[in-house]
Amino acid sequence: MTVRSVVLGCGSYLPRQILTNAELATRVDTSDEWIVQRTGIRQRHIAAEGEFTSHLAINAARAALADAGLDAQAIDLIVLATSTPDNTFPATAVAVQHGLGINHGAAFDLQAVCSGFVFALATADNFLRTGAYKRALVIGAETFSRILDWNDRGTCVLFGDGAGAVVLEAQDQPGKSGDRGVLTTHLRSDGRHKSKLYVDGGPSSTQTVGHLRMEGREVFKHAVGMITDVIVDAFNATGLSAEDINWFVPHQANKRIIDASAHKLHIAPQKVVLTVDRHGNTSAASIPLALSVAVRDGRIKRGDLVLLEAMGGGFTWGSAVLRW
Ligand code: UT7
Repeated sequence: MTVRSVVLGCGSYLPRQILTNAELATRVDTSDEWIVQRTGIRQRHIAAEGEFTSHLAINAARAALADAGLDAQAIDLIVLATSTPDNTFPATAVAVQHGLGINHGAAFDLQAVCSGFVFALATADNFLRTGAYKRALVIGAETFSRILDWNDRGTCVLFGDGAGAVVLEAQDQPGKSGDRGVLTTHLRSDGRHKSKLYVDGGPSSTQTVGHLRMEGREVFKHAVGMITDVIVDAFNATGLSAEDINWFVPHQANKRIIDASAHKLHIAPQKVVLTVDRHGNTSAASIPLALSVAVRDGRIKRGDLVLLEAMGGGFTWGSAVLRW
C-alpha cells in the first residue's frame, strides 16, 4: 500500500466586480482586439475595496469543504499560495485558519508567484504522505489588482483577482498508476530570470509594496520550453503519456502559451481547460479556479487523470499529475 493525497473536494471564489477589456481601453492606450488577440483575455474580476486576499481564500476554502462534505475541524494543514498577502506578516494562511474557526494543526503561506498552487500542492502532498498531517486545504488566492501599475498597458490588462482551493486527504492506495490522488509533482526554479518578472518594492528593500514589472516578451520566450520540460518530467516519472491524460489544466496566463504547450505535447485541444478569457491571469489562483470550473460543469469526474502545470516569476515552474 502507498499513502496518496486524494482530492476530496474543490471550490473557488471570484469577486463580484468584472472589468472588461472595453473598460480598460478607456483608461490606457489599448483595445479589446489587441488584448483578445495577444492573450485570449476578455474580462477579469477585481476585489472590492476592503476585500482582502484572506476573504477570497476563506470563501474558496468554504466552497471546497462543502464540496468535500467536511467540517473545517477535519483540516489540520493549510498551505496558501499567494504573492499578495493581506500583510507582510503574519501569513495570510493564519487569517484563513482563524476565519474557518480552526486552531489546531499548522497554516503557512507559500510564495512561488504564478507557480504557487503547484508548489503548494506538492508541499501539502509531501506532508500528507509522511503522515505528519491527515487533511490539507491547498489554496491559491490573489488580489493582483493591488500591485498593478494601472498606467502600464503592458501589464495592467493581464491580471485579475480570485481564489481557488482543494481539500486533500491522506489515504492508503494500492500503489499503482490507477491510484486516486496526486501521482507525481515536479518543481523547478532559476533565479537568473528574477528581473524579468518582479515587484519593485518590498519590506526589506524599499519599505513599500511596489508594483508588478514584467518583460512580457522575455517571459513568453521561456514559457513554452519550461512548461513542456517539466511535463515531460511528469510523464517520465509515471510512465504516462499525453494520450492517457483526460484533462490538461494549465496556469492561465496567456491562451497562446497554453495552445503552444498543448500542441508541442500532443495534448488534444478538447482536453484543455481554458478560463483565461473570463478570469485573466489570477497567478496562484488560476489553476484551482480552472479546476473548480471544470468540476462544476461536469468535465472533470472521479477517476479522471488531470495534468497541471504553471510557470511564473522567479522563474519558477512545475507540474503535477493527479487522478481525481
Ligand atoms: O503568469 C506569469 C507569466 N506571465 C506570462 O506568461 C506573460 C508572458 N507574456 C505574454 O503573455 C506576452 O508577452 C504579452 C501578452 C505580455 C505581450 O504580448 P506580445 O505579443 O509579446 O507583445 P509585445 O510585448 O511584443 O508587444 C507588441 C506591441 C508593442 O508595440 P511595438 O513595440 O510593437 O510598437 C507593445 O508596446 O504591443 C504593444 N502593447 C500593447 N498594445 C496595445 C503592449 N501592451 C499593449 C496593450 N495594448 N495592452
